[in-house]
Amino acid sequence: MTENMKQLFMRQISHEIRNSILYRKIFNFLSVKGLDNLSIKFKKDAEDEMNHSLWLQDFMEKVNEIVDFIPYSPITEQITLGNFAELALQVELMTTEMLNEMLQESYEIGNSVIITEFLLGTMIKEQIEETEKANKLNDQIKNIGEDVKFLQLYDNTIEV
Ligand SMILES: [Fe+2]
Ligand SMILES: [Fe+2]
Repeated sequence: MTENMKQLFMRQISHEIRNSILYRKIFNFLSVKGLDNLSIKFKKDAEDEMNHSLWLQDFMEKVNEIVDFIPYSPITEQITLGNFAELALQVELMTTEMLNEMLQESYEIGNSVIITEFLLGTMIKEQIEETEKANKLNDQIKNIGEDVKFLQLYDNTIEV
């Protein structure tokens, strides 16, 4: 693994943990607002993000690299009924960008088949699905608006 690749892995490990914490904040907020199904959805997403971090760590271990954890950037986002879906979409888009940077490093610079396969087959595959879901949710919430009455009706239709 190139030195830069190691740095990118560790940055990603922290970023996925940060995503998880942000989603925890969102599920707590939604639960307090009574939007229980949306809250459960974000609770699951928070678990998924923690798993993404573990996948990266497990991969580093598999190729015998030491993981030096670096702190994730503080979570300063204020969550509101009007912005939670947009925030989720933003972090997913940022994640996609960061994974693309890793792919570029492994494919074009590091020329590593094993890392490229891991990124494409595991991380990016999952990321494409998540971005689509985040996009869909954001579109729907934008249409509904921030009125808790309408959000409650929408919440009742969600199957979890
Ligand atoms: Fe993730
Ligand atoms: Fe994600």
